[in-house]
Amino acid sequence: MPSMNDAAPLTPAGYADAVAAAVRAAAAYYTDGATPLGDDEYDALLRAVAAYEREHPDEVLPDSPTGKVAGGAVGGDVPHSVPMLSLDNVFSAEELVDWAAGLERRLGRPVAAWCVEPKLDGLAVAARYRAGRLHRLVTRGDGLAGEDISHAADAVLGLPAVLAEPVDVELRGEVLLTREQFEHANEVRTAHGAVPFANPRNGAAGTLRAKDRPYRVELTFFGYGAVGLGEDLAHSALLERLAALGANTAAATAAAPLRCAGLEEAQQRIEEIAALRSGLPFGIDGVVVKADSPQDREDAGSGSRAPRWAVARKLAAEHKVTRLLDVEWNVGRTGIIAPRAVLEPVVIDGVTVTYATLHNPADITRRGLMIGDRVFVYRAGDVIPRVEAPLVEERTGDERPVVFPEVCPRCGDAIDREEQRWRCVRGRNCQVVASIGYAAGRDQLDIEGLGGTRAVQLVEAGLVADLADLFSLTREQLLGLERMGDTSTDNLLAAIETARSRPLNRVFCALGVRGTGRTMSRRMAAHFGSMAAIRAADAETLAAVDGIGPEKARVIVAELAELAPLLDRLAARGVGTAVTAPQAPVAAAPVAAAPVAAAGGGEEEGGEEEGTSAGGPLTGEAVVVTGSMTGELAALSRNEMNELVERAGGKASSSVSKRTTLLVAGEKAGSKRAKAEELGIRILSPDEFAVLVAGHLPRG
Ligand code: IVH
Repeated sequence: MPSMNDAAPLTPAGYADAVAAAVRAAAAYYTDGATPLGDDEYDALLRAVAAYEREHPDEVLPDSPTGKVAGGAVGGDVPHSVPMLSLDNVFSAEELVDWAAGLERRLGRPVAAWCVEPKLDGLAVAARYRAGRLHRLVTRGDGLAGEDISHAADAVLGLPAVLAEPVDVELRGEVLLTREQFEHANEVRTAHGAVPFANPRNGAAGTLRAKDRPYRVELTFFGYGAVGLGEDLAHSALLERLAALGANTAAATAAAPLRCAGLEEAQQRIEEIAALRSGLPFGIDGVVVKADSPQDREDAGSGSRAPRWAVARKLAAEHKVTRLLDVEWNVGRTGIIAPRAVLEPVVIDGVTVTYATLHNPADITRRGLMIGDRVFVYRAGDVIPRVEAPLVEERTGDERPVVFPEVCPRCGDAIDREEQRWRCVRGRNCQVVASIGYAAGRDQLDIEGLGGTRAVQLVEAGLVADLADLFSLTREQLLGLERMGDTSTDNLLAAIETARSRPLNRVFCALGVRGTGRTMSRRMAAHFGSMAAIRAADAETLAAVDGIGPEKARVIVAELAELAPLLDRLAARGVGTAVTAPQAPVAAAPVAAAPVAAAGGGEEEGGEEEGTSAGGPLTGEAVVVTGSMTGELAALSRNEMNELVERAGGKASSSVSKRTTLLVAGEKAGSKRAKAEELGIRILSPDEFAVLVAGHLPRG
């Protein structure tokens, strides 16, 4: 849990600024909930202000928010008979121990028992009942007087119009939007053309205050106190009494208040509630620890702002404000086109969040999001972080609209917009087209004439459902397709025929196994020598290949198991069946394992190569190729150049280092050439290199 204690002390000018900022933030927080600061930042600011005031008691500004309920931000015209207090905060187990020790010193005895309950993230209200009938609902306001919000009472669930007994009593508790109520509220609001609430707390504040809305938003009350009732009861017993009267309490939830004999037990319950947090149907921003016995409460008494018998152990905020930098569109395995928010990194509850889900395009429109917006991001437990809403009032005018894709970002075909979740019209086949296109690429099977549109055509005609199908296409089938004459058919068939005997590294690369690009495919081919050996390898055996760590090895094993039927069919068609003698592993400098990347991206891991053919002219050489090739090598792609290096016995690498022994520098070779010169590495032109490896050049 990150501590927020460690900020540098304020200067006098910094103190004045901090007070002004806190007053502004409190005013927004307690009125419409449009917080310019996140909860953690607000708490940290208040702590800095309080620390300054402890050091400089003569300089305390009159409008300082410390010592005031609601930071002194709001008031009202309905006086409270007994002040509605706030709570002091602690931020760690240690601080709680100190706080409890202070209380016990004051009492001169141990606290008899504690009651530990969730700190509900809503707004405190007082519900006044006369003879068991609800007659007034009032906000906390400044703690001394609040606002009359009786108009909202009938939308608050858990706050009965009539209690089970005809008592005169004031129930106190929190009104909030449960997660479900929040979702529903935003649907209803946006259906009425209103902007969605940024978060549940904000929504509860807005809803309680609103009058004459054309739609109804329900809220929920959780009782945790009373005036005129239970002053002589243990707090845990009071909660039971509230429930018996018909009020809602947290008792029925997983985070139910619990009486704890000692502080250790209380700490345990705090941890339990904290762990339950993300699964609760409502938001909590902490756990409240209260002395349970009426005697302890009475003897401890209260200060002007908070009781001395209770404290809030705050939990890190789940909502944070950051900037929306971009929206990316990704196509899933089923063809769903999903937007994803790219965020300015923000730490939420100890985890750095850079991406967040945006559900679907309608959701973006509903939330009125723009690129460049400051947005609320929510993350709880293990759930995927999500963007909740923009802070519209903070717009600068530089924000840009989110651009929605016109066509499928993966295959370029049309988008089916019938449902809320957009989908490529090809559905699952969208992936097939992309993977065939990738497999046919120059660095894989290099099948000329099988570009995107041809792959689309083959898939659409039902002739090709996977890579293996390519190798059983017939002349008649191809001639039956539009724009396929004799010549193109023959050319395509010839190109496919050539592809059938491509070397193992290229066939393996064509599979698009996650975590393996061209380099890794070459290493694996050199290491294992045959597809059968690769398929037979377990994770441990795979991890013997340079650059494959245990995690990547597991991914590769799983992917190969998934691909087994395809591999069988490819083998039956004579694809990838060539066997070469596996290389004895050449001791190479360790390479950082490349991250597991998505298949089909043509990704290439950097670093040193391994698995070379011994005895060639480049034996013992570590070679880097840079710039554009000319002369005899002009037609070779970078991958083909690397293959050539390896055929000639060298190790290919993508970056120049002290270990590099030879640089092939083509035209426009830039920084790599400069670095090689600096390190005194031998440099050859493409022509000179071609002479050196003449016996290994590709035919044709
Ligand atoms: S007891 C005199 N119990 O937290 C007792 N407050 O940050 C004061 N809150 O003003 C309140 N859950 O709005 C109490 N279980 C709980 C609570 C709770 C949420 C709110 C309440 C209070 C604020 C202080």
